Formats: sequence, C-alpha cells, structure tokens
Amino acid sequence: MPAYRKLGSIPPKRHVAHSHKPGYRGEGIYYEEVVTTAGFGRAYGIAYHLRPPTRVRKVEAAGTVALDIVSEPSLRHHHLRTGPMKAAGDPVTGRMPLLVNDDVALLRCRPAKPQAELYRNAAADEVLFIHAGKGTLQTMFGVLPFRPFDYVVVPHCTTYRIEFDPGLQPDLLIVEASNNIVLPPRYLNPDGQVKLGAPYSERDFHGPNETLVVDREQDTTVLIKDGQRLTRYTLASHPFDVVGWDGMVYPYTFNADDFEPITGTVHQPPPIHQTFEATGFVLCTFAPRMLDTHPDAIKVPYAHSNVQADEVLYYVRGHFGSRRGVEEASITLHPRGIPHGPHPGTIVASRSATRTDELAVMVDTVRPLELTRQAIEMEDPDYPYSWME
Ligand SMILES: [Fe+2]
Repeated sequence: MPAYRKLGSIPPKRHVAHSHKPGYRGEGIYYEEVVTTAGFGRAYGIAYHLRPPTRVRKVEAAGTVALDIVSEPSLRHHHLRTGPMKAAGDPVTGRMPLLVNDDVALLRCRPAKPQAELYRNAAADEVLFIHAGKGTLQTMFGVLPFRPFDYVVVPHCTTYRIEFDPGLQPDLLIVEASNNIVLPPRYLNPDGQVKLGAPYSERDFHGPNETLVVDREQDTTVLIKDGQRLTRYTLASHPFDVVGWDGMVYPYTFNADDFEPITGTVHQPPPIHQTFEATGFVLCTFAPRMLDTHPDAIKVPYAHSNVQADEVLYYVRGHFGSRRGVEEASITLHPRGIPHGPHPGTIVASRSATRTDELAVMVDTVRPLELTRQAIEMEDPDYPYSWME
C-alpha cells in the first residue's frame, strides 16, 4: 500500500462531525465514507462527501464482459503481436482480455474515443500501464496526472474516469488483480518505510495532487464490473463530491523510468526487477540498466524452465537483447515446465554491450494462465520453433 496521505479538508479526529453549513438537507455536515481493504483488516482511507454516497436511484443489469477462453491442446510458448491492434471502444469498453487466471487478467486497450461513463471495478485492483498517452485519472480522491510509462494503480472500488490529452493515440496494458497490489514486503523496513537499497522510494510514488469537488445534484451513471458481470448504477448526485480525505487507500502512479535497476558482475535473477505483487503473481520492470561487468559474463538471461510459474513479458520500448522477432507491444508467454532462453546469436551479440535500453513489464503468475480467442488471433504460430533459427 502507498504511504499515508491527506488532501483537502478533514476533521481533527475520525468519525466526528465535519461541519458544513447548511449542508445537504440542512444537516450541517460532510458525509464520511470509510474505504477499506480486506474487510476492515488492512489499509483504509476516509473521505468526506458533500452528500451521502449511498443515494442510488436505479440498478440495472448491463450485460457481461465476455471471456472467450480457448482450450489449449498442447503446452507451448506463445508470442502475441498486439502492436497492430486497431483502436476500438473507449478506455473501459475497448479492453481486450488476453491472458487470464483466477488471480490476474492481462488486457490491452487502445481506445478510439473518450470514456463514456464513470467506471468502477468492484472485484479487482487495476494497474493501468500507460504505454502511450498522457492525461488524468479523475476519482473522488481528486485529480491524478499520468504520463507515458506510468503504472497507474487503482484500488478496488475506486470510481474513475480516465481523460487523455488530445493528439496522441493512448495505448494501455491493463493488469487486473483479484487481490491487493502491494509493494514487496522485503522492500519495507519494520517501520513500513521503503528500505534504502530498494529500487525506488516514497518520492517515486505520486498520489492525487488536487481535490475535484463536483457539486452536482444530477443523475450520474456508474458502470460497475465485478468479475464478468456488469451493472449500471444511477446515483442521484455526482460521486466526485469529496472535499478531503486521508489514509492509505488511493490511486497512485509510479513511472517505470523511476525504477532503479540493481545490477551485478554477473546476471541477476528476475526478482531484482520486482515492482509490485499481489496474491498469485508478481509484476516486474525490466528498466534500462548497466549490463554485467565480469569480463566473462554472459549478458543475456540463462535458459530456464520456469518451474511453478507462468512468465509473461510485455515489450514496451527499446531493443530486446535476448529476443529476436519481438517488437514493441509484443507479449510473450513462456509457460511453466518447458525451457526458454536467449535466442540464437544473442549471447555473442551482447558481448560488447555495456548497457541495455530495453523497457519491459513482466508478470509472473503462480497459477497457469489461459489464453482468450483474441490472444490466439494475434499470435505468431512459429514462435515455439524460433530457437531453431
Ligand atoms: Fe524467463
């Protein structure tokens, strides 16, 4: 969870009246909403609304998000070329699920139009990786600016609207986590502070920087997703009517280029790239870095059979030293139990290199991932044989 933060107007103690005259219906207060995680067991925040946040005028079924899983007859590597993907839908409706299990789903989205209505994921934390685009995430916590290569972490149940600046085609990788996205506990000292030596510090995490108080007594719809089910709620007033909040549950950004890589004289294993985790998977950042300095170092990863883990790489930017044939926005899935490693020629080609400019996002899952029909439609069928080239 991110560090404690407060913004706007809050009263001196929890659960006491926060005076607001005359206030909704003349009641003289702002209305407290406690936002918790894991029931009441973990991080929480407290927000203060102009009106009670519970005033629902209408609840309507809004269909489902189809998940067309393809049963794979064989265990093999996959390479999905998502670069040519056409723009479609909006930042919510345009999401294309590609790889899923019960803990995590990876989706791609290249929206063609602005977000049509407010959205809330009731069953997942979302990480919106901004491959391209710049703009703001608007929530009851205020305005959160984002830029290319930001991870925008959105906790469960945060109603939001993503607004992109005009002029650039936005491009997103979305990671839906059934559990809470947290910083790896080994990066934290017993006092909860990010340790010296971790690949980032509190200064690299950015929360909303200004409140967004929409005082509007007007029907406002919110599309709520819980699993595959969609529900449309019509609220009697705009939910972004929060004058202040504090706590440790709020959306925040971390930019992949702020990741401080850890390097060695010889190759270091993938956990050094770890950025976030949630039950069932880890998320890592392969950031531009110095390569290994031992005179005989092999500067690309060794072959390995990821035992008890499925390994997904999303290639973002730069030259990928150990892979041939992948391009920007390629996704590789190296499932458990079969070896993969550097492509032929890449060991020799990397000998004289002193650094790598690659930027990639890795998701390693505990449970096997399944592919959707859309993923199979984008795949390079020859990839399993690409080590023979
Ligand atoms: Fe690997």
